[in-house]
Amino acid sequence: MVKIETIQTFPDDFLWGASTSAFQVEGANTEDGKGLSTQDVRPVPAGLSDASIAADHYHRYKEDIALMKEAGLKSYRFSIAWTRIYPNGDDEHPNPKGIQFYSDLIDELIKNDITPIATLWHFDLPNHLEEAYHGWLGKETIHHFERYARTVFEAYGDRVKYWISINEQMMMVMNTEMLLGKGKKISYKEGLKYNMQACVNMSLAEKKAFQLCHEIIPDAKIGPSSAYQLCYPLTCDAMDVQAAMDAEEFLSYLVLDLSVRGEFPATLKAYLKQEQAYPVISEEEQRLLKKERPDFIGVNYYASLTVRKPGDPDPKADLFFFNTENYTIVNNPIIKTTTWLRGSYDPLGFKLALRKLYDRYQLPLMITENGYPQTEEPVNGIINDTERITYLKDHLHAIKETISEGIPVIGYHLWSFIDLLSGSQGYKKRYGLVYIDHQEGNKGTLQRIKKQSFYWYQKQIKEKGREI
Ligand code: BG6
Repeated sequence: MVKIETIQTFPDDFLWGASTSAFQVEGANTEDGKGLSTQDVRPVPAGLSDASIAADHYHRYKEDIALMKEAGLKSYRFSIAWTRIYPNGDDEHPNPKGIQFYSDLIDELIKNDITPIATLWHFDLPNHLEEAYHGWLGKETIHHFERYARTVFEAYGDRVKYWISINEQMMMVMNTEMLLGKGKKISYKEGLKYNMQACVNMSLAEKKAFQLCHEIIPDAKIGPSSAYQLCYPLTCDAMDVQAAMDAEEFLSYLVLDLSVRGEFPATLKAYLKQEQAYPVISEEEQRLLKKERPDFIGVNYYASLTVRKPGDPDPKADLFFFNTENYTIVNNPIIKTTTWLRGSYDPLGFKLALRKLYDRYQLPLMITENGYPQTEEPVNGIINDTERITYLKDHLHAIKETISEGIPVIGYHLWSFIDLLSGSQGYKKRYGLVYIDHQEGNKGTLQRIKKQSFYWYQKQIKEKGREI
């Protein structure tokens, strides 16, 4: 195994940052003209919190940015709620109060020497677009996304120079229920056709955003945030190896190849054609897919996956809903898992993932999410989150080694700066450096308490990661 000597400190211009997303932190989800998004109307299991309050960041962003400054953050990745800008998605004019909110947020960041990184879409589609045009299944949504992107590039392009187009397109594309509506059950094969059409529509919307961003803000950079899934074969049986390759193509390269190369991976394309699930793409759309390219790749990494040839589902495996008839996700027998962590605790896998991504696309990489979930409450006012510190340290070490190997990783945005509403599991699952007194069921004082990981990260930023 090649061993390269590890650099002592991270590069001077490394973006030490943190991430959040609008519906997971802002709250105020019907205030100042905001429309409802698909995240605001999704059914929430009894007793869990919804998106109406979250961390109340909409009202407390100045307090939160002061904490970011105290931690020493160089960059902050947030998402813009499309429904604050265009409440229904297809309104004639943008909502001035929505435009103002992000303008103020961006000014506050810049005033505190924090580079703003804005995500255009982080799972929260205007619900009206879902109802009127079947969301990402309708070509109209592409057009409305383009208009929304133009509006925010024009409004904030003088101050925002890093943009994320779409967050985790794969999560949306693998989720037929999310596309067709809750409770709608159709066969895997039929679902595949819809999933792939939505995928291409999202990629087309993304390409329009690339084009507009480069035209309107020539000195800006834009890229997608990929939910990159590193897939290990369970054994050296060639069938398991192929299953792992197939899974990696479905779960990672499908979306990224469209983003960067404007085409499907070859084997996947042949499979989709055979299954009559290859999407409708006009010649003009094909040209657009090929023409526009991102400037960097955003990487969201939490854990790796292990895969075997298709068979009975593994009851112990997390993320089993990624299964298709072509492969089966299984528990990794040699890597530890934790209560909340999806898949396995695998920092070395992070390093492998970054190397694979750079080898395939030759684009700079920006870590847009990485973090450790825990259920935690203060004891005598202190949250001693040592497991999170170990996780962050191990994963930052993997990045340090990756940079030492000559791979350009330009920044690290841990998930998440403050405790926020989990994508699917309410407020018990916490990721933040800062604890928020939000108790399940939209209760709590919303007081902010710095966890031990906050102080740890602050030290690493100050010392440029010398100890990592
Ligand atoms: C990523 C998403 O998939 O993972 C975030 O971009 C999400 O929005 C994060 O919160 C963690 O997932 P979860 O389900 O634990 O919130």
